[in-house]
Amino acid sequence: MRAVAYEVSGPSNEVLSVKEVPEPNPGEGEVRVLMHYSAVNPTDVKRRSVETPQFGPFQIPHHDGSGVIDQIGPGVSMELLGQRVWIYHGAHNRGFGTAAEYICIAQDQVVPLPDQISFLTAALIGIPMMTAAHALSICQDLEGKNVLISGGAGAVGSAAISLAKHKGAHVITTVSSAEKALVAEQAGAHVIINHQVENLDAALESQGRKIDLVIDVAIGTYLPRYLPYLADRARIVSYSSDGPELTTSVRPLMFVNAGIDFFVVFNLNQSEIQLAISTVCEALSDGVYPMLPVKIFSLDDCATAHKFVEDRTLGRAVLQISG
Ligand SMILES: NC(=O)c1ccc[n+]([C@@H]2O[C@H](COP(=O)([O-])OP(=O)(O)OC[C@H]3O[C@@H](n4cnc5c(N)ncnc54)[C@H](OP(=O)(O)O)[C@@H]3O)[C@@H](O)[C@H]2O)c1
Repeated sequence: MRAVAYEVSGPSNEVLSVKEVPEPNPGEGEVRVLMHYSAVNPTDVKRRSVETPQFGPFQIPHHDGSGVIDQIGPGVSMELLGQRVWIYHGAHNRGFGTAAEYICIAQDQVVPLPDQISFLTAALIGIPMMTAAHALSICQDLEGKNVLISGGAGAVGSAAISLAKHKGAHVITTVSSAEKALVAEQAGAHVIINHQVENLDAALESQGRKIDLVIDVAIGTYLPRYLPYLADRARIVSYSSDGPELTTSVRPLMFVNAGIDFFVVFNLNQSEIQLAISTVCEALSDGVYPMLPVKIFSLDDCATAHKFVEDRTLGRAVLQISG
């Protein structure tokens, strides 16, 4: 089969190429998926640029994707044959990710795809929606809560807006351009603060209500700004190490009994993963989908797709493999 692979870490245009590799067969408890789309996330790009392949002579990249189960391994129900699915954590602790014509993967890492959702949309679900769902789960009841989401036009940020709104929250978000503001609006944000043209502190002050939950893409940048506007027992969830390191005054956090949570989606335990998946599936069945514009690339163009993500271009980069 054809697969994108790299043998050493480095710049995308130097290390990524399409290889002919043996077609995989599913092992015990695994399914084989005929891949339709494979989405690129920042983690795929970071890993390729710094991490030598650890699970064999080469690494097939990408965690997220979509396709159809075309073979099942021992111990897997025949009923899964022909099932349309989305895939999560496809390249986690393995050498074989989704940027290939087939992937063999544990049956619990594929999730059935409702008929109304396209394979393209399905490839966008994995990391961003599960990350957003887990971040929001820190607050048990979001109904009527005031939620601040930084970077609301990012893959995770926009997913967090849509999911928080779906759960009944009032959503405030920050963006850095008018184009990104439109994306955040489509995702459903109630208040959009373009921090390039508006004073963020003044905009938060003018909301007239304190923030119950923050989902933060750049805690070192933003926390000092929203610190005065945290509600009693506010929770802050940080999912990215982008931007400056966090330095903060303790007292404003302590005096509202605030809490800060950090997490990485790959280290969630099984019950957290199941909760994130059920939140995402419920939202999908209610018509809440990933909202970002998509740029489609071929397998042969994977290096350009990685560059698209590296350059922080607005939108998602997805490889079309078949379908
Ligand atoms: N912990 C986890 O499990 C987990 C899961 C998924 C992603 N991540 C990480 O989270 C980050 C975002 O992922 P993504 O897929 O949402 O990326 P993305 O689609 O490229 O979006 C990133 C958004 O975040 C904002 N942003 C990025 N860096 C920033 C900085 N230094 N200061 C302020 N704002 C910044 C930008 O918004 P504005 O330009 O509008 O400000 C941008 O639109 C990546 O670093 C990724 O590796 C972590």
